[in-house]
Formats: sequence, structure tokens, C-alpha cells
Amino acid sequence: MNNLPEQIHAILQQNKRTDPTNYNYLIKQGGYVAPNSALITDAITALSLGKNILLKGPTGTGKTKFAETLSFLFQQPMFSVNSSIDLDAESLLGFKTLTYENNKQQIQFVPGPVINAMNDGSFLYIDEINMAKPETLPLINGVLDYRRTLTNPFTNEVITAKEGFRVIAAINEGYIGTVPLNEALKNRFIVLEIPYIAGDQLLALIKSNSTLTDMQTIKLFVQLSEDLVRGVKQGKLAEDAASIRALLDACDLSSLIPPERAIKRAIVDKLEDDREKQFVQNLAETLF
Ligand SMILES: Nc1ncnc2c1ncn2[C@@H]1O[C@H](COP(=O)(O)OP(=O)(O)OP(=O)(O)O)[C@@H](O)[C@H]1O
Ligand SMILES: [Mg+2]
Repeated sequence: MNNLPEQIHAILQQNKRTDPTNYNYLIKQGGYVAPNSALITDAITALSLGKNILLKGPTGTGKTKFAETLSFLFQQPMFSVNSSIDLDAESLLGFKTLTYENNKQQIQFVPGPVINAMNDGSFLYIDEINMAKPETLPLINGVLDYRRTLTNPFTNEVITAKEGFRVIAAINEGYIGTVPLNEALKNRFIVLEIPYIAGDQLLALIKSNSTLTDMQTIKLFVQLSEDLVRGVKQGKLAEDAASIRALLDACDLSSLIPPERAIKRAIVDKLEDDREKQFVQNLAETLF
């Protein structure tokens, strides 16, 4: 990435001198709001140096949003892979199909997201990378290390990634259905922990990303989020109870219906356990 966009240069230069508390002014409205400036600086630094980054954190903490914001800052398009338990070579690399040209049947290879991003020199985002089948990901080990190379098993073609190719992956450790990430794979990433944002950052996010405008209610939602995160840390609540995604939904609904009902629809009724439901409902009743 020889020609880094100006704003990336500005961030890196600024960081050499000081570590200012807020880079969020650089992120266009609707982008990722970071809990601290170091997180953005370190992600940008790693990507500028040609490294892959792994965003690690619970559901709804903004991992996908962060990847989108980084691709925006680097002015690089991003190809995405959504992993699932049946993620296989085809969904990563592509597949063969039959085509007809001048009435003649031909076998054609249709490239998948990994090969597209390599050929394009773009960003590749692999979501929930630990949901993939253990035998699938070793296929791309060579893509992720200094070789940046892949032998396409469908065509035997050797593909080397164009300058600019970077990988951002996300994992949600502990999520049901995930397997611990293979060490060889984890070894190929710079790991960035993505926490739930809180306090002023969360306040700013709700103000810019939700239809809720009443400041008093927004502040109560910031408080609710803090209580939910604490509940999760103490093992009283399932992890998704603290999702910022669900909190933003509750904020949106609260602009039109009473907050308690909004919290019931957006947060409480997603929980399985009756005690957990009661716990969140009590928090809501105390606050609102
Ligand atoms: N720190 C943040 N900055 C900006 N938006 C955020 C942040 N945290 C959560 N959000 C918002 O919450 C919603 C969920 O974010 P996102 O999809 O990026 O989460 P995720 O960590 O990728 O979740 P999952 O693990 O479920 O895929 C989005 O609407 C996003 O804008
Ligand atoms: Mg995501």
C-alpha cells in the first residue's frame, strides 16, 4: 500500500508525536466509534505494514462496522466471507461451472471472495472465522502469511495477491457453535480486542445512530448498557443481552413507544432464561 490516503498518513504522523484522545473526527458519521484512539491507530498501523488483523469480541460490539470503516479509511473496496459451519473451499475460493460458447460446452471457474480480493488487491473480511470447518481454513494459510499465495485447487493455478490485499477477520469466542481458532491460523493475525463501548462514546453513538433524541432517555440507556455489560461479566446474563445492536434497536423503538416496552421487545424477549429476563426487566423498571 504505497499510496496511503492522506487521512491515514495524518493519523500515523499524529500518533508518532502524541496519542490524542480522539480520532473519531476522522471517521465519517455512521462509522465505527472506538473506545480509545489506540485501537484505531493500532489497526491502521498493522494494516499499513501489510499485516492481517483479527477483531475479537462479543456479538454487537461493532466488529463488522470497524472493518467497513477501515476499508473506507484506506479507500479500498472490501470482499466479504460469512463463515458458517459449512464454509468450504468453494465458498472461499470459488467453483467450477458449465458454460456454453458457440454451442460448445466449457468448464469455467467462477472466483470466490478470497480470489477476487487477491486479484483486485482489496480488503477481505472474514466474519465469524471460527465458525468455519477446521479443514477449510488451512487452505488459506499461505494467503495469510508472507507468501500471499494460493494454489487454486480447482484450476491448479498459482495466484499471488496484488499489492493492497489485506485480511480482516472477526471472531466471537465462546459463541455457541464456534470452535477454538486453530493456532496456526491465529498466529497469522494481529489480534485486537473489541469491547462494548460505554460512557461518552456510547452516548455519541446513540445520538448519531438512533432516532432517539431525548437526552435524558439517551443517558438512561447508557446507564442500562453499563448494567447489562456488568451482568454479563458477572455471569448473570447471556452475552447477547449486552449487544449494542440490540440496545440501538431499543433506543429507536423508545422514540415512539415507552422505553420499558422497547427494552422488552429488543432485549428481554430474546433471552431464553426466565431469571435473565427478570433481571433485565428489573433493571429497566429501576431506570425508566
Ligand atoms: N463501537 C461502535 N461504533 C459504531 N457502531 C457500533 C459500535 N458498536 C455497535 N455498533 C452498531 O451496532 C450494530 C452492530 O454492529 P456490528 O454488526 O458491527 O457488530 P459485530 O461485532 O460485527 O456483531 P456480530 O458479532 O454479531 O457480527 C451496528 O448497527 C453498528 O453500527
Ligand atoms: Mg459482525
